Order: sequence, then C-alpha cells, then structure tokens
Amino acid sequence: MSDPKERNIYHHASGVTRHSRERLNGHKGITLWFTGLSGSGKSTLAVACEEALYERGCRTYILDGDNVRGGLNNDLGFSQEDRVENIRRIGEVANLFRETGVINLVAFISPYKADRDLARSIAKPGDFIEVYVDCSLATCEERDPKGLYKKARAGQIPNFTGISAPYEAPENPELHLHNDEASIDDNVQRVLAYLEENHYISRL
Ligand code: ADX
Repeated sequence: MSDPKERNIYHHASGVTRHSRERLNGHKGITLWFTGLSGSGKSTLAVACEEALYERGCRTYILDGDNVRGGLNNDLGFSQEDRVENIRRIGEVANLFRETGVINLVAFISPYKADRDLARSIAKPGDFIEVYVDCSLATCEERDPKGLYKKARAGQIPNFTGISAPYEAPENPELHLHNDEASIDDNVQRVLAYLEENHYISRL
C-alpha cells in the first residue's frame, strides 16, 4: 500500500494516549494470538483465559474467527487469498485494541506463518504473544464439535484446514500448549503464569 500522505490521508492524534489508557486500565494493551486447527480448542481456551483475566480486574476482549466472520469479515471465504485478508484485517483490529489498552485475545486458525508474522510486525516488541494451541488432527477430527471434519472428508467443504488446505505450525511461539494432553484449566494457568512472569499482569 502506498504512503498515506500520497493518498492525502493524515493521521490525527488524541491527547488521551495509549499510555494514559494503559495507566487507567492498570496493564498494557497486548494481544494473545491463539492459532491452531479447527477444533483444537482455541476459542474455549480464549474464553477461559478471558474469564480468568477478568476476575483479576483486567480489561479484555475476544476476537474469534467464527464471530468476526459473521460481521466485519462476512465478505470473506476460505480461499488462501481470503484467509490472508481475514488475518490482515484482524491484525489491524488487534492493533486498535492494543491502542485502547485492552488485552485482546485473538482466536483464528491463522494457518499461514507469513500472515501471523505480519500481524506481529505491527505490534511493538513484546506486545504480541503467539499461543500455539497444538492438538493433533486425529483428536480434532475425533472431537469434530461442529461436524465440519465429517463434511470435509465427504468433500462437502473445500479448502478445509488440515484436510485439503495447509496449516503451518508456529516455529517459535511464545507459548506452545498441548491441548489434547493438558486440561483447559492447566493451559489457562500456563497462560497466566507467562503473563505474570513477564510482568504483563501482577501476581495475585
Ligand atoms: S482462518 O483460516 O481464516 O484463520 P477462521 O479462524 O477465520 O479461519 O475461521 C475458522 C472457522 O470457520 C472454523 O472454526 C470453522 O468453524 C469454519 N470453517 C468453515 N469453512 C472452513 C474451512 N474451509 N476451513 C477451516 N474452517 C472453516
């Protein structure tokens, strides 16, 4: 995209800065970016983490693939091109939430490394925490909470991640969770411990 000034677009700043909003909220605006196969438990984990953070007085918001695709991204499908745009937009929305000083929890398959890296590149160092929700395809398929793997195997859903479209696992995520072996509670504790140890939130 060209320089905004070349398009006669100028950024307006407010006197209420990100820093002042963060001070008001009592924590930094950060993104917890959950990535993993459909059925790996990203949304369940994001919801459980959000509840735990809320209990600690943090300001939070979840951006979930299935929800956002019903509104902002309802013009996008599941071709590679559309997924790239899906994640590009969410990377920008996550940036807006960071500006508000909110801890935003993003739960999208986000199957392509380059797209996750793009979303990370617009965050300040340390403000983007990639959480790999690792769960074997066999387990996701066995769980099949929405019956989508069954349909995908029957050839009724094209470009289905893990079946007929790729998933590129993160190589260096800040957190690598095994969501088929550990319980949701254990994984929530790991996320909270990470946030405490790295001084994103204070210890209880
Ligand atoms: S992403 O790949 O572009 O990041 P996103 O997280 O927004 O995907 O949406 C994934 C959700 O869309 C899945 O949990 C599932 O409910 C639904 N879905 C519908 N079609 C597909 C498909 N072809 N591949 C994966 N998920 C799909």
